[in-house]
Amino acid sequence: MTKIKIFDTTLRDGEQSPGVNLNQLEKLEIAKQLERLGVDVMEAGFPASSQGDFDAVEKIAQTITKSTVTALARANKKDIDRAWEAIKDAAKPRIHVFIATSPIHMKDKLKKTPEEVIDIAVSMVQYAKTKCADVEWSAEDASRSDLDYLVTIIEKVIDAGATVINLPDTVGYTTPKEYGEMFKYIKAHVSNIDRVDLSTHCHDDLGMALANSIAGIQNGATQVEGTINGIGERAGNAALEELAVALEIRKDFYPFTTQLVLNEIKRTSDLISKFTGMVVPGNKAIVGRNAFAHESGIHQDGVLKNAQTYEIITPELVGVQSNNLVLGKHSGRHAFKDKITQLGFHLSDDKLSEAFQSFKQLTDRKKEVTDDDLFVILMDIQTDVTNRKQYQLKSFQVHYDSNLSPTATVALITPTGEEVDDAKTGSGSVEALYNTIESLIEESIQLTDFTLSSIGKGKDALAEVHVSMNVNQHAVSGRGTAQDVLEAAATAFLNAVNRVFINKE
Ligand code: KIV
Ligand code: ZN
Repeated sequence: MTKIKIFDTTLRDGEQSPGVNLNQLEKLEIAKQLERLGVDVMEAGFPASSQGDFDAVEKIAQTITKSTVTALARANKKDIDRAWEAIKDAAKPRIHVFIATSPIHMKDKLKKTPEEVIDIAVSMVQYAKTKCADVEWSAEDASRSDLDYLVTIIEKVIDAGATVINLPDTVGYTTPKEYGEMFKYIKAHVSNIDRVDLSTHCHDDLGMALANSIAGIQNGATQVEGTINGIGERAGNAALEELAVALEIRKDFYPFTTQLVLNEIKRTSDLISKFTGMVVPGNKAIVGRNAFAHESGIHQDGVLKNAQTYEIITPELVGVQSNNLVLGKHSGRHAFKDKITQLGFHLSDDKLSEAFQSFKQLTDRKKEVTDDDLFVILMDIQTDVTNRKQYQLKSFQVHYDSNLSPTATVALITPTGEEVDDAKTGSGSVEALYNTIESLIEESIQLTDFTLSSIGKGKDALAEVHVSMNVNQHAVSGRGTAQDVLEAAATAFLNAVNRVFINKE
């Protein structure tokens, strides 16, 4: 079995999904979970793109000890300096430098000749190497580049010190056969190729990202780049959970293995979906809600007689557990602490007390507290930003009468600490609530998406709302979880507005 290294770029390419913008604490929580999942490398961000991204990458680099932490840089000194500055404290740092190599990108985007691109790539890899021993170089749009040009430039960047060569299918255009042949050609013609790891990086525009990644490793790639849940630019990236499980389930066929801890997959997927607001489709392979549901009578009958008739993956393999009752009204602090440790959380005493208090409040309203409920409490505690200046919901009321327009009354604390209130109507309760909140804040808002789902089962399940909106022309998303649907809606709205406000600050 050849070990394939997993390079996760959820925090960089994944965060480039339209409307996704994670705050620093959310990025840090995701990074910690990616480390538990066992990724070899995590791309924490693109430090030159903003101060916020720089800060998040720096924090992740200072926290993560097992995985390599890398940061993206365009092929210029300023970007490389920023990337290095952000990751220099990492236990295992890597600088990731990229430049485009396809004729269309070199001519129309970079306005450089192929020779100039070679000079820039070589000198910038040499420059990155003066700072960091581990330097990955990516040939952006490799799959639409001339093969012999790739051979020339790759040979030179390896001589300049690159340790990993990544050949992205940037626009998701290639096919498995074509992509595989590119790797085969590079392996056969680049004289010093055995000194480096070769890497795939596939986008899913034609739905072939996973198949292309596998074709890459069948032809010599030893690293696969992708994201959890396949999120990313446009149609997204190769879904790493699909790759890892496909290699495991079909190990009779594929001679490759990864070090991912498969039963951490579901938790990682849930966390990322929650924080990004990108809901996983029910029929998504491996992590979709229905991935293990058998609906037809014939299938159910077969599964009852022998699960393997229709089930090739067990839910347990990827960490899907039935939502059994875990704690209740009478559970004490000790049992609570044990349970959250089992869930993988390690809180300071203060945070533990805060979480325990929220748990107790929940047991007043909810008889059965499930893992999902605890997960929400813990995530809210971990990512709490209430000590920052931002909009806070003080109180609200919504009056609904089937014969009248619903009316909402809302009181907010503004970022300057002022208390403001107003009342407005709408054609529904949520609209009335949102119209009122909008009248109280300065930012200009256009709501573009609203989704409501329940966490767990039963009438007393928690409500979770995700919103996407343009706040002062910036696309942002927000989430809110509460026992009540309207409270979750109000919290999600303010969560999105506060992201813009905090960034502005
Ligand atoms: O898709 C791509 O080409 C990229 C590079 C920056 C690695 O994301
Ligand atoms: Zn990409």
